[in-house]
Amino acid sequence: MRNKHIIAPSVLAADFSKLGEQLEMINQSEADWLHVDIMDGRFVPNISFGANIVKTINKVCKKPLDVHLMIEEPGRYLKDFRDAGAEILTVHLEACPHLHRVIQQIKDLGAKAGVAINPHTSVDLLDDVLEDLDMICLMSVNPGFGGQKFIYQTLPKLRKLREKLETRNLNPFVEVDGGVGLQNAESILQAGANFLVAGSSVFKSENPIESVKKLKAIGSETWV
Ligand code: DX5
Ligand code: ZN
Repeated sequence: MRNKHIIAPSVLAADFSKLGEQLEMINQSEADWLHVDIMDGRFVPNISFGANIVKTINKVCKKPLDVHLMIEEPGRYLKDFRDAGAEILTVHLEACPHLHRVIQQIKDLGAKAGVAINPHTSVDLLDDVLEDLDMICLMSVNPGFGGQKFIYQTLPKLRKLREKLETRNLNPFVEVDGGVGLQNAESILQAGANFLVAGSSVFKSENPIESVKKLKAIGSETWV
């Protein structure tokens, strides 16, 4: 079935000195999910925050939390983030030598299971777990920082992934994360995404509520 695409503002780009206000604003907006970036300073060259902050965010935010773990050994922390309120837990393929096990651990916790891949990682590497996934996240920047430029090689990757999903009759969330805004959202959706993360293009814009509305209004229907 075709439906409307999902918009998930990334809280990493919010002004943390007034986090409560920023989350209230997201509550008022047409955003579907809130994207929450966890960085450990090892898997990626930056540190963000941990499960306690996620718990605090979850108390104020009425949107479900899409938690993106850019950390090594994510299996050790899944329960903490699930307890903190994560609805989707996404781990990186590059951080998981035992990816299948980690996916099962996420499911056992009752969360939706996502796998993210870096710009250089082929979607073919997901072939043997596709049936197990609720979300596939294609990174369209090298993870670690908000506000980077969209890598256009993501578009052919998306098309390839969408073809595989159609052939196998699967319909997970296909998320694109990094450098997404009004200037490229339409081509990303056309290439096969149905879930867009938007950090700077929402929180750093003059009118974030309006920016979400515009992102939401792009196209009429999508791959859901
Ligand atoms: C990058 C993060 C992204 C980031 C997106 O490492 O995973 O989720 O917050 O921010 P923008 O939209 O500003 O690229
Ligand atoms: Zn992210």
